[in-house]
Amino acid sequence: MKRILILLFSVLLLASCNTKPEEVHEPTPYVLFNPAFFPSLQNIPSDNPLTEEGILLGRYLFYDGRLSGRTEADSMMSCHSCHKQEYAFEAGYNVNGRVPGIRGKLTHRSMLPLINLVYTHEGYTWNGNVKSIEEIVRATLTDSIEMAGNLDEIVKTISSIPTYPPMFKNVFGSEQVTADRICKAIAQFVRILVSSNSRFDRYVTGRGTLTDKEMQGYILFTTEEGADCFHCHGGQGNMLFSTYLMANNGLDADGVPYRIPTLRNVGFTAPYMHDGRFQTLDEVIDHYSEHVVFSPTISPLMHHLSDGGVQLTPYQKECLKEFLLSLNDTSFVTNSELGSPL
Ligand code: HEC
Ligand code: HEC
Repeated sequence: MKRILILLFSVLLLASCNTKPEEVHEPTPYVLFNPAFFPSLQNIPSDNPLTEEGILLGRYLFYDGRLSGRTEADSMMSCHSCHKQEYAFEAGYNVNGRVPGIRGKLTHRSMLPLINLVYTHEGYTWNGNVKSIEEIVRATLTDSIEMAGNLDEIVKTISSIPTYPPMFKNVFGSEQVTADRICKAIAQFVRILVSSNSRFDRYVTGRGTLTDKEMQGYILFTTEEGADCFHCHGGQGNMLFSTYLMANNGLDADGVPYRIPTLRNVGFTAPYMHDGRFQTLDEVIDHYSEHVVFSPTISPLMHHLSDGGVQLTPYQKECLKEFLLSLNDTSFVTNSELGSPL
């Protein structure tokens, strides 16, 4: 008994010697709400777990035009300059299929919305070749068209704004602002942009109904003899509405594969395709119905290629469009917790 007490005492002594005199701040873990019908696997790197403090800092940075390292009004750019909540974090407009970046220079491709990216494991961007959100943030900050920043300048600017260093301390344990920390915090905010409350979701979870036309559109979407969309865009079991794989959907005779975009919130994200060629969902549906063209890399999942498309009647097109619009999640585009904190 005595020996046990001595042992216990020395263990306690050792433990107390190991405790650093200065209390290390631990941020509060954030548990992302995971709808039951979503994949359970979230893509969160082990060196950047979600925390309340990290998400808050990321949200401030996401909306802050000084993030471009500039303070002249005509050249301040934030993520929000192009990714706007009311358009499901898309730009909502474009110029010849591109989006104006710094001083009006145009991006190479049309926009992508920021929706449910925490579930994406196949790679990001239209090319599907970027492996992490942190990487996109870093590349965007310095891209000569998008934000054209210089990482040293950005760090200097953010450090000089009095509210920021204490927020960095709350997240990372010290007030030091670094490019790596900026990217991590913004990536945390991007990961909580989860949309799972469309009218279709409410139907699937028994909290709402679809109209007859929406229902017929859903059946068309998910059947091969119908509109045959589901192999690429999910809808049955795959509630992200994309497999996120690369495919050529028959737009051009010299077409190349692009990453399949999600169709969630598609009513808010016009214009469509990597080059924004279609202004409306009607034009998109006409493409899949009648204008599919052959090219050597066309996806074998474009089963109706020999007919030029899935050949829908005008009524079927209406139904399909109404179904697509039932994927709009109004609560996502109006949730004040995702809006600007500034
Ligand atoms: C000038 C406009 C512009 C700005 C500013 C901008 N983006 Fe983007 N963003 C785009 C475009 C265009 C794409 C599609 C690029 C591509 O696929 O080649 C994109 C793609 C993305 C993607 C990939 C989405 C996916 O589905 O794979 C993420 C994530 C992203 N941006 C986050 C951000 C963040 C975070 C910021 C701020 C640091 C930011 N963007 C600033 C235009 C912009
Ligand atoms: C073979 C796979 C495949 C099939 C089948 C398919 N798509 Fe697509 N879809 C894609 C790809 C890839 C893109 C992006 C192409 C690009 O931008 O060049 C896309 C883009 C879209 C877009 C534009 C989204 C945006 O944000 O720009 C819509 C809308 C769409 N598809 C709807 C449909 C509908 C409706 C059907 C069924 C009639 C369908 N797709 C069938 C692969 C497919």
